[in-house]
Amino acid sequence: MKKVLVIGGGGREHAIVDALSRSPQVGKIYCAPGNAGISAQAECVAIKDTDVEGLKAFALENGIDLAVVGPEVALAAGVVDAFKAAGLRIFGPSKAAATIEASKDFAKQLMAKYNIPTAAFETFEDYDAALEYVKKGSFPVVLKYDGLAAGKGVVIPETLEEAEETLKDMLLDDKFGKGKVVVEEFLTGPEFSFMCFVDGNDVYPMTLSQDHKRAYEGDKGPNTGGMGAYSPVPIITDEDLEFSLEKVMKPTAAAMVSEGCPFTGVLYGGLMKTPQGPKVIEFNCRFGDPETEVVLPRLDTDIYDIFSAVADHTPMPAIEWKKEVTMGFVMASKGYPGSYDKGYEIDLSSVISSAPSVISSASSVISSEVEKSPVRIYHMGTSLKDGKYYTSGGRVLMVVGFGADLQEAHDKALAAVESIKCENLFYRRDIGWRVL
Ligand code: AMP
Ligand code: GLY
Repeated sequence: MKKVLVIGGGGREHAIVDALSRSPQVGKIYCAPGNAGISAQAECVAIKDTDVEGLKAFALENGIDLAVVGPEVALAAGVVDAFKAAGLRIFGPSKAAATIEASKDFAKQLMAKYNIPTAAFETFEDYDAALEYVKKGSFPVVLKYDGLAAGKGVVIPETLEEAEETLKDMLLDDKFGKGKVVVEEFLTGPEFSFMCFVDGNDVYPMTLSQDHKRAYEGDKGPNTGGMGAYSPVPIITDEDLEFSLEKVMKPTAAAMVSEGCPFTGVLYGGLMKTPQGPKVIEFNCRFGDPETEVVLPRLDTDIYDIFSAVADHTPMPAIEWKKEVTMGFVMASKGYPGSYDKGYEIDLSSVISSAPSVISSASSVISSEVEKSPVRIYHMGTSLKDGKYYTSGGRVLMVVGFGADLQEAHDKALAAVESIKCENLFYRRDIGWRVL
C-alpha cells in the first residue's frame, strides 16, 4: 500500500486527499499542514507548505511513495525540484515551469510568441509610460501585477483616476512588491476553468468547471479566490472545448517544452468565451480552488494512477468522469477578501454526525464523520478544538452538492449551506446563475 504526502491545507487539498482516499492502492495519506477537516481523512503534519527542506526531510524519513503539491507558493518555492533532486516522486511542475503562473508577463509573452489566443497587452516597469499607454486606450482597462498576489493583483479600473491610483500602488508604492504591470485589453464573456493533466507534450483534459470570482451576488464586489463552482459547464459547446484543447492547452504545453521548461502537473487554463471564441485570461500551474472540489468528486479513475503517470512519464490510463454533476458554495468569513476575524464556532451537526477527535495515526481515521445529507463538506479554513470546529481563514468551507442535473446539485448544496450555523460566515446564493 502506498504512502502519499499532500502538500497544502485548503479545500483543494481536502478534495485531493478525498480522491486519494478512494484509491485502493493508497494506504496512508499525510497532509502538510492540512486542516481540521482534512484530519478526518489524513494525518496532518505541522510543516508549512513553503518549508521545502522540512517537507523533503519528512518525505525521506517516512518513506513517502508520492507527493502531490496543491498551492502555487510551494511550487514557486521549488518543492518539486528539491524532491526530484532527492530521488523522491512528486506530482507538480518545476519552479521554472511554475513561472507560467508566478509571472503574468512570462505567460503573456509565451502566448504572444506561440499565437495562443489572449487579450492584447503591453508590459511596463515605468509608471509614466504605463499611464501614457492607459490614457491612449479605452475603459475599463485591466491592470495585472506581474507576480503572485493571492488573487488580489488584478484591478479593472473604470476611470482614468482609478487607473492612476492602481498604477501608483503597483509601480510607485510597490504595494505587492517590486514588479512590472501588464496592461491588458478588457474582454467580455463567460469564464470557465479548463484544467488538464500535462506531462511535457501530452495533455489530458479534465471535465470543465466554472468559478465565481466576485465576492457578492450578481457578480458584484471585489475579486476573490472563488466563491463557488460547478461541473460540467453546459454553456461551453463541444466546439469551444475542442478549440480550447487544440488551440490553447496543447500548444501551451508544447511551447513550454520548446522554451526548455516542460510542464508536468496540472495546467489550469482560465478561459473566457468571447464573441471571437475562447481566449486565455490566465494560466495557473496547479489545481484550481474551489474548482477541484467540484471536479475531483466526479473523477471515476484511480487518481493515484493519474498522478503516477505524470510523475513517472509513463502511459496515462483512460480518464473517466461520472455522469453525476456537482455544484458547490463557498462559505467565507464576513469581510473576506478584505480583513476578517477568526475563531467563530461552526456548528456542522446538521451535515455531519460528529467532529473528528485529534488524529494521531491513519488507523484512527474517523469513520463517524459521515455526511448525513447528500453533500461533501470540504474544509478550506477551519481549526478544531475540543471536538468543535472554528473558522480560521477567509474562505472557510466549500459545500458540494451532487445530482443528476445542476439544479438538483444546487438545491442540495444550498440546503446544506443554510443548515450550517455560524455567526460570522457569508455566501453567495446565486452560484450557477448562468446555467440554472
Ligand atoms: P486573473 O487573476 O488574471 O484570472 O484575473 C482575475 C479576474 O479578473 C478574472 O477571473 C476575470 O474575471 C478578470 N479579468 C482578468 N483579465 C481580464 C480581461 N482581459 N478582460 C476581462 N476581465 C478580466
Ligand atoms: N479559483 C481560481 C483559482 O484557483 O485560481
